[in-house]
Amino acid sequence: MPDLLEVKNVTRKFGGVVANKGVSFSFESGKVIGLIGPNGAGKSTLFNMVSAIFPPTEGEIWFAGKRIDRLPAFKVSPLGIARTFQNLQVFKRMTVLENVMVGLHTSTSSGILSAAFKLPKAKKEEETIYQQAWEEIEFVGLEDVAAVEAGSLPLGKLRLLELARALATKPQLLLLDEIAAGLNHQETAEMSDLIFKVRDRGVSIFVVEHDMDLVMRVSDRIIVLDQGEKIAEGTPNEVQNDPRVIEAYLGNDEEKEEATV
Ligand SMILES: Nc1ncnc2c1ncn2[C@@H]1O[C@H](COP(=O)(O)OP(=O)(O)OP(=O)(O)O)[C@@H](O)[C@H]1O
Ligand SMILES: [Mg+2]
Repeated sequence: MPDLLEVKNVTRKFGGVVANKGVSFSFESGKVIGLIGPNGAGKSTLFNMVSAIFPPTEGEIWFAGKRIDRLPAFKVSPLGIARTFQNLQVFKRMTVLENVMVGLHTSTSSGILSAAFKLPKAKKEEETIYQQAWEEIEFVGLEDVAAVEAGSLPLGKLRLLELARALATKPQLLLLDEIAAGLNHQETAEMSDLIFKVRDRGVSIFVVEHDMDLVMRVSDRIIVLDQGEKIAEGTPNEVQNDPRVIEAYLGNDEEKEEATV
C-alpha cells in the first residue's frame, strides 16, 4: 500500500518570497497529522498545494499512489481530498443545508439541463445530495439551524458548517486550516472531539492549528514548519521538547515584541 499523502521536496515561490522550501514528508491512512509553525511559516501554502489550488514551483505531491501536483482542483477533490479554509468560505444568504448541498452539486454527473428539466436521473441525484448533506449536518450537530441563513450564525456554528460541507464529499483525506480559530474554550474542546469522531469514520486528517492544546491532543504526529522549511517531525511530545521548535516560536515572539515596542 502506498502512503496516503507523499510530499516530495516541495518548493513554492511567490515572486521573491519562498513560502515552502524543499518540504518532504509522508503519512499513512487513518491518522491525524498536525502541521504547526509560526505565522507565515508556509502552512496554508502547503494546504493550497495539496488541495490543488495552485501547483508547487518544484517537487511532487502524491495521493494514494497517484501524482496530483499537476492536476486541477476539480480533478483532485473527486480523488478524495476535502478541506476547510482559514477564512470561512460560506454563502451568507444561503441556509446551512443549501451551503452543504451546493458543495455536492458540482460533483454530480447529470448536468444543468437535465436538472432544469427535472429528468428522473437529476431528481434521484438531488435526493442523494439532500440525504448526504443532511447526514453531515446531523454529524456536526447543526440540525437545529439547518434552515437558517448562514450569515446569521455565530462563528462556532460557521466552522461546523465548513466541516459538514467538506465531509459531505466523503473524503479520504480532510485538511482543516485553523478550524478552531476564534472559538472559545468549550467550542474548541467540542471540535477536538469531532475530529476524533471523523477519524473514527476512517478519514485521515491533516490539521493546521495555532491552538496548541487542540493540536497536541488530536495529532498522532506533528510536522513543524518555520520560514517555509520543515524543522521537525515527531510525536506531540517529541516536537514540544525539540529545541529547534522552541527556538522557532520564541524567536518569533521576540521579533513581535520588538516590533511593538
Ligand atoms: N498567494 C500569495 N501570494 C503572495 N505571497 C503569498 C501568497 N500566499 C502566501 N504568501 C506568502 O507566503 C508566506 C507563507 O504564507 P502562509 O499563508 O502559507 O503562512 P501560514 O503558515 O499559513 O501563516 P498563518 O499562520 O499566519 O496562517 C508568507 O510570507 C505569505 O505572505
Ligand atoms: Mg495560514
